[in-house]
Amino acid sequence: MENFSFHSPTYFAFGRGKEEKTGEYVKQFGGTKVLIHYGGGSVLRSGLMDRVKKSLEKEGISYIELGGVKPNPRSGLVYQGIQLCKEEGVDFILAIGGGSSIDSAKAIAAGAVYDGDFWDFYEGKVVKKALKIGTVLTIAAAGSEGSPDSVITREEGMLKRGASGGALRPVFSVMNPELTMTLPAYQTSCGITDIMAHIMERYFTNTKDVEFTDRLCEATLLTLIKEAPKVLIDPKDYEARANIMWAGMVAHNNLLGVGREQDWASHGIEHELSALYDCAHGAGLAVIFPAWMKYVYRHDVSRFAQFAVRVWGCEMDFANPEATALEGIARFESFLTSINMPVNFRQLGAKEEDIPKMAENMKLGNGTCGNFVKLTTKDVEKIYQLAL
Ligand code: NZQ
Ligand code: ZN
Repeated sequence: MENFSFHSPTYFAFGRGKEEKTGEYVKQFGGTKVLIHYGGGSVLRSGLMDRVKKSLEKEGISYIELGGVKPNPRSGLVYQGIQLCKEEGVDFILAIGGGSSIDSAKAIAAGAVYDGDFWDFYEGKVVKKALKIGTVLTIAAAGSEGSPDSVITREEGMLKRGASGGALRPVFSVMNPELTMTLPAYQTSCGITDIMAHIMERYFTNTKDVEFTDRLCEATLLTLIKEAPKVLIDPKDYEARANIMWAGMVAHNNLLGVGREQDWASHGIEHELSALYDCAHGAGLAVIFPAWMKYVYRHDVSRFAQFAVRVWGCEMDFANPEATALEGIARFESFLTSINMPVNFRQLGAKEEDIPKMAENMKLGNGTCGNFVKLTTKDVEKIYQLAL
């Protein structure tokens, strides 16, 4: 195991009715003037916004609102939010919604206390200072409620890039599984796929002897495999929603990734798909991850065989471990199909002729992406080809 530091200070308020205490949490963490940031209106239709506003009013906390965050959030609204915060003296950003609203809130939080262009953080500058961020989560997916990351798309050139820094971890996140019951089935499945991807980006590692985090990864994947069909049959299954929601946080606050090298090539390769086609991030991952696996599994057949046996229940073929490895990848792909995810370009609506452009947009130059296997632009093109 490698040395590591792990500081995950977010306060999680989990369970039924917790959103009604949002005002108390804002007060507890020192917020006095709040920007409520949200998406395309699901939180208005569900009545969640009214409940949250009431809880702020109860605590005498003033607020302003900025809605309209799109999935794959854009820089334009971030600039608007930063200006609003500066003009209105906002000291706390409250995101209500999913990864997109939270990520946009994080970008505003960083930009509001920075003199330069907030985009600097999405070109590699670490975020060391930001306004405090709280979240009320409505979809189990991105894990942004507990992560130090934010992903924004810059309209100019449609560049989708990530920023990171401890200051971006929310100070609190409200997680009521009931709030996810209104999700369309497709978004539920995209979320589950994204959560699985966050685990697998950590699972496929070159670090030896990481049995404990391997086992945590496997347990979290097994939970998702068991709970996913339940919520697709009954979207109001509270217990299944609860298990998935907490798994989504644990999958990405890095508890499962400490002390080990992580990969993250599939996320980079996917971000070009969601930047170009504006598809859901989870759907893009369902297309890319199996293709990435088929491209790299020979690098460490025994790790892929372990994944097949422990996660997918395959029988180990000691005479031919490669067959076991491939069986695991096939079962993963079938699982994705069973939860109605696209698994190739055709099903996603992506086009073969865009492959060189997407690979080029990753701007690897002479560099590489990923760690399990370091991939060049040519490798990335081949992975897109395998996903056709
Ligand atoms: O915008 P509204 O109207 O709220 O609708 C949303 C949106 O259309 C809808 N939705 C959310 N909760 C709902 C609901 N509809 C009905 N009932 C509810 N309870 O679902 C749609 C998707 O929402 P979004 O916030 O985009 O989903 P998600 O959480 O998957 O976030 C995706 C974004 O997160 C980024 C992705 O790249 C993508 O841009 N990621 C962020 C990460 C991070 N910050 O750590 C890591 C991830 O790997 C990921 O890259
Ligand atoms: Zn993701």
